[in-house]
Parts: sequence; structure tokens; C-alpha cells
Amino acid sequence: MDQNQIMLALTKGDRVLTQELALLARAGIEPLDDPQSSRKLIFDTSLAGVQFMLLRSSDVATFVQHGISDVGMAGRDVLLEHGEDGYYQPLDLDFGHCRIMEAGLIEEPSLPRRLRIATKFVNIAQRYYARLGQQVDIIKLYGAMELAPITGMAHRIVDIVETGNTLKANGLTPMNLIHDVSMRLIVNKTAMKVKHRLVAEFIERMRTAVQDANR
Ligand code: PRP
Repeated sequence: MDQNQIMLALTKGDRVLTQELALLARAGIEPLDDPQSSRKLIFDTSLAGVQFMLLRSSDVATFVQHGISDVGMAGRDVLLEHGEDGYYQPLDLDFGHCRIMEAGLIEEPSLPRRLRIATKFVNIAQRYYARLGQQVDIIKLYGAMELAPITGMAHRIVDIVETGNTLKANGLTPMNLIHDVSMRLIVNKTAMKVKHRLVAEFIERMRTAVQDANR
């Protein structure tokens, strides 16, 4: 950990990266190379002492937990799935809004008592059904969750819903809201202590940028 540097971890999915960079630009932080075209993974920025690295969404929390990155931007869906120990979440970045929902077929046949649930959010789904006191079998998938109810592999899915178009196009409908999701700023707990001034300034800079974006 360099005491005079802040290392930021960004989620590199295409849509989300564009919005992260727009927010950083509003905060006066611009990359010196173009992350959309460069193959680099670490970027210097126009703000002295601030660098960022590009990571898969599910790795952002890991890098922040280990203190490799001091701060990070990640979706609440990924944070809930990863586990929320080892970092603070001081700021809702107010973009990337969507929901984690339970969904099923519009024309749902009668269901057995013990459901099969397809999802990539295994931990979130487990906690959700445990809270309901409902015993389920979880089937882990990495994408195209909608296929599971259509093909009979699972009865329902737990997945991200943004517009609802993907569900609708596949004869599915959202049924129960599990979590509202948006992008969050996360901060390593040690960095918050050891680099308090730098990190606090960075959070305030981002807070102002989020407020400006909503004006
Ligand atoms: C998510 C999700 C759905 C889709 C929902 O996938 O898994 O497929 O978005 O969006 P909608 O409600 O606006 O149709 P994403 O594009 O994030 O990619 P993924 O397959 O990697 O999860």
C-alpha cells in the first residue's frame, strides 16, 4: 500500500465502465490512456496520486478486501453474493439500477413443494429461501438463466431484472423482489484508517460528483 496513492478498482463490463468513467470525469479524474481501447489493466489518471485497475465485477470486492485496491466500484448484486466483510460501503453511486428478482414462467404449471432454482447468485438465493423457510435445490448457472424454466431444468430463477425485456421475450415474468441493486463505492477498512485523509477526500469528491449527476 503506497501511503500517498489511491488505487481504485473499477468493474470492466462495457456498459458499466462507460458510466464509471463518466462519474470519474465529473469528479475531475480522467484516465491518461483510453481504457475502452487499451489492453492495459492499470491506468494513471489526471489526478495526481490516483490510479485505477480494471477487474471483473466479482473480483472488485476481493481486491479491496485484500487492500490491493483502496477503493472500488461494484454492483450491490455482486457484493451481496461475494459477502460484505472487510470493506465499508460509504456511497451509493446511483447508477446501474436494477433488481434481483425471483422469476418464473408466465404460464406456470403446478409446482412441487421443493423447487429447483437456477441462478448465478447462489448465496443470495440460499439466504432468500432460507429466510422464507422454503427448502429448494439450487442449480448454479453462469448465464442464460431464462432457459432453465423453459426447458424444465428448474422451476424458477433468481436473476437480475433491469427492463424486464429478457424475461418477457422468453415467456417469463418477475415474481418477487429480492434486492434493489445499484453501483456502490466500497473502501478497504485498513485504508480508511491508514490513508484517512486521502480516502476521505476521494469519497467526498465522488459524493459531490454523484450529486452533480442528479442535478
Ligand atoms: C442480465 C440478466 C438478464 C438481463 C436482464 O444479464 O441476466 O439476462 O440482464 O435485463 P433486462 O431486464 O433489461 O432484459 P447481463 O446483460 O447483465 O449479462 P449476464 O448474462 O452476464 O448476466
